[in-house]
Amino acid sequence: MNRMMKVLDKTFEVFITKEEIAKEVASLAKEINKDYEGEEVIFVAVLNGSFMFASDLMKEIDLVSEISFIKMSSYHGTESTGRVDELIGLNNDINGKNIIIVEDIIDSGLTMNKIISLMEMESPKSVKICSLLYKPEAFKGNHKPDYIGFSIPNAFVVGYGLDYDEKGRNLDAIYQIKE
Ligand code: IMP
Ligand code: MG
Repeated sequence: MNRMMKVLDKTFEVFITKEEIAKEVASLAKEINKDYEGEEVIFVAVLNGSFMFASDLMKEIDLVSEISFIKMSSYHGTESTGRVDELIGLNNDINGKNIIIVEDIIDSGLTMNKIISLMEMESPKSVKICSLLYKPEAFKGNHKPDYIGFSIPNAFVVGYGLDYDEKGRNLDAIYQIKE
């Protein structure tokens, strides 16, 4: 593993190693397994950023569970409705089910506000959020993550699914931008 990494025009430095990630992912799964013992869960992973985290997390889950992948998209509706947000890809019936939303990072929390309000229209039994990374200083949302891998400073990171202009998702560690 390289300590320094160039992604496009920016230089990044190792911030969380793959060993540290693996240990934390296992511990998050252990907590979820315990909290939901005897219950069924539908994991809903938010693409693209959460693909690697969701995959590693699921391998450690021993509950009866399903996984589904969603994307948030927004388009211009009519002039009266303005911008309309929609959830793409949620094919499972979530009515009356326990949902855990799996995210790579919660920054402002605004994406999560939209996801939760769209999901609540389907009346799930419960909705919790599991985010590998959380930036408390940037957060101004309504739903703090229930399961947090790492709380990190408000600086840009890439790797382990997270991108800089779509690049760097393949890195097996998390790198922080070097100013
Ligand atoms: P939000 O600000 O919580 O709505 O986050 C929106 C999205 O921005 C996240 O789901 C990530 O895809 C992306 N994002 C936020 N911070 C970072 C970062 O430091 N690196 C890479 N992507 C980020
Ligand atoms: Mg994301």
